Amino acid sequence: MKKYDLVPLDAVAAMPHRDILDLYRRHVAPGILANLKILGFDRVRVVRAEGMWLHTADGRRILDFSAGMNVLNHGHNHPRVTAARHRFDEERGLEVCKALVPAYQAVLARNIAAICPGGLQYSFFANSGAEANEGALKIAQVFHGKARDKFLYTDLGYHGKTFGTMSVSGPFGKPYKELFKGLDGCIQVPWGDLEATRRAIEGRTTWGRCDVAAMILEPVKGDLAMLPPAGYLEALVDLLHEHGILAIFDEIFTGFGRTGRMWGFEHTAAVPDILTFSKSLGGGKASIAGYVVPKRIFDRTYASPTRCAIHSTTFGGLGGECAVAIEALNVLVDEGLVDRSRELGAYMLERMRDLQARHPRLIKEVRAVGLLGVMRTARATELLDARLPRVNAVDDLLEGLIPGLVVSELLKRHDVLIYTGGREDNLFVNPALIVTREEIDLFFDKLDAVLSSNLARLAAGLAANWLPAE
Ligand SMILES: Cc1ncc(COP(=O)(O)O)c(C=O)c1O
Repeated sequence: MKKYDLVPLDAVAAMPHRDILDLYRRHVAPGILANLKILGFDRVRVVRAEGMWLHTADGRRILDFSAGMNVLNHGHNHPRVTAARHRFDEERGLEVCKALVPAYQAVLARNIAAICPGGLQYSFFANSGAEANEGALKIAQVFHGKARDKFLYTDLGYHGKTFGTMSVSGPFGKPYKELFKGLDGCIQVPWGDLEATRRAIEGRTTWGRCDVAAMILEPVKGDLAMLPPAGYLEALVDLLHEHGILAIFDEIFTGFGRTGRMWGFEHTAAVPDILTFSKSLGGGKASIAGYVVPKRIFDRTYASPTRCAIHSTTFGGLGGECAVAIEALNVLVDEGLVDRSRELGAYMLERMRDLQARHPRLIKEVRAVGLLGVMRTARATELLDARLPRVNAVDDLLEGLIPGLVVSELLKRHDVLIYTGGREDNLFVNPALIVTREEIDLFFDKLDAVLSSNLARLAAGLAANWLPAE
């Protein structure tokens, strides 16, 4: 009799799906499962994921237009990225030894510098976007010293769920933010509003001394697929610099070609002092994130032997993660995925506009920057008979109903996966950058079919997700 009753790895693939659901409910997150169940997403068991497609245990082939929230710019299991992982393992590569110089990390940092403008040169690698942003905030604080301990952030920003990053995120994370007081000294300004930022800075300046260390923002607002107002970002960086404030651009959602440029901020002439990145850097096969800074900032913060480890993490920049990321970046460039995002993004926007013209009652707004796309749906309450009495609790329940109906029906009846999110009425349309024109056509044909269906029937379908599967 073994001391511990462990399930062996070999048993997982053959385990019935209901057992997996049960384990997830009992050991991981019943709340997440309940939400997936509302959409019917809990019933899908993927056994293989390749390129744009998911293959399920019951023989379905699902078109994945979600790109794993932009982790999968290369698509699922890109052959060159997976080969890089295999090669590293077959060669018995050095995954971790903090006492020696990590070769793959050095080369990855050099390649990051090669795709960045503005002398961004020194990289730090972590595993998650939040850790990267946390490091960026810390480096700004160290750069200035404790006399400048305030941070500006925007109402639309999302930067992660560690204490620091949550404190500089806007109301997007409202249910979480309400539970935590957050850090003192974080000042919210409206995204895209230069004058409000100027007023906030003036409010933090006494006798010419400003106590703000940095401002963190998403230069292209990722989950809304929104470019900054013309001239805003350039003027903002000038304003920040006038007051000695560092500009931190968070490109965790928008980096690595998603918007049709390598970085979203390259739609403008602005350059950040600190740039954070993550998601598709790992090509969908490595959890890697980081920030990059120019020499003038690095020299005043992390350069010395006594300060070199003021931000560090055990698993950051491991050999295999960095090897995979090196290959992922090379694939991005060799396959021209950034240009592809721009060109196919323009086509995708055309198809979005056609669809909106066909369904003006349901689709209120469409936006795309490269292959970063968002469609804003009507709220269910806007579609109700105006003569019906309104009940707040019911209105609350109906928030997010239309996107929910759409994504649920797309998956259930049309074998297409997308997510909702960012705002209650958002549909994300963010396919991997390897998507073809034919797959874009297929996606919009299926979406058109869903939007042409009877909404009451769709709502009944959503309710049926709660019934036991046959
Ligand atoms: C813009 C942005 N910043 C930061 C994060 C946090 O990254 P992570 O979830 O890896 O901590 C995200 C995650 O979606 C993001 O979209």
